[in-house]
Amino acid sequence: MTELAATTKVEECLLSAPSENPSARVSEYAEGSLLSMEQLSVADVAGILANTSHLERMTAAERARVLAGRTIALLFYESSTRTRTSFELAAKSLGATTTLVSDKSSSIEKGESLKDTGLTLRALGAEAIILRHPASGAPSLLARATGLPVLNAGDGMHQHPSQALLDLRTILLRLGKDASTVHAKTLDGVTVSIVGDILHSRVARSDAMLLPRLGARVLLCGPVELLPEDALGLGAGIEGSGSLEIERDFDRALRQSDVVMMLRIQKERLAGFDLDLGEFVARYQLSMERLAACAPKAVVMHPGPIIRGLEIAGEVADGQQSAIEEQVAQGLVVRRALLVRALGVTV
Ligand code: MLT
Repeated sequence: MTELAATTKVEECLLSAPSENPSARVSEYAEGSLLSMEQLSVADVAGILANTSHLERMTAAERARVLAGRTIALLFYESSTRTRTSFELAAKSLGATTTLVSDKSSSIEKGESLKDTGLTLRALGAEAIILRHPASGAPSLLARATGLPVLNAGDGMHQHPSQALLDLRTILLRLGKDASTVHAKTLDGVTVSIVGDILHSRVARSDAMLLPRLGARVLLCGPVELLPEDALGLGAGIEGSGSLEIERDFDRALRQSDVVMMLRIQKERLAGFDLDLGEFVARYQLSMERLAACAPKAVVMHPGPIIRGLEIAGEVADGQQSAIEEQVAQGLVVRRALLVRALGVTV
């Protein structure tokens, strides 16, 4: 099924659904769902981090008993390497049985709706569903249709909450802070720049909703085509959310940064865009020269997949300052805590 077809089908359902807000209050959904970063309070985030550390300290044998006998479905309508594999390995490490359904090899190709696919997985014993979908709001729809806890593994240009949590844990560890808890001032004095294709990035949205609430100063950096002024409204209305700033000059942003988060240009969402890639690379690529000159100590992050030679030079991705592989590893440990939370298990 094409991305467009999948999007249309879900959007039709969303239009007929009672609530059209993709970030509607989580109380409408099974407890344990994680649909958007805005549903989590700072105390919730602290609880997830505490459980992450607790599960990490367990032996492999202890961990394998936590979700033994439980069934978790992974439902992926978009490609994924890191998110899918880490959720799957996290579930397996906790002893759960997993099943993967992708749009490429299932009845979705024959036109089955998201709702019917979800109901099928539930009838087969799935107790939670991890969903990636090209349409914003699809996880909310699935959660409502099935009554199961749903974990949003990335929905369109909307949210990628588990990525924000793993980014947070990576930042805490790299900056030598306590990774087992957070409060509203944990990231006081820390400046994080998020750079590149902010417009299409669900990661940027989720990070921008989380990090300022913990005290971080977040600079958004990119050309106007990929970073409209209204990005400043991200996180508005969330209790305790700090302010965001736009800094279009990358070198100036870098000079202030403790952490720099590079983003891939999402070519699959660029239809109708006229972006001069040569100019983008000249102004916004994180090259070794730029990093050495402007931010020789900053932690370099990227949610992946990285496009070497475009938003980031290969030598930077492989270099000492890069935390990119740590982010991937943190994905596994943080997602364990999200699965435990989804299934309401106390550890
Ligand atoms: C995502 O799924 O949003 C990724 O982790 C970031 C990307 O696709 O560039």
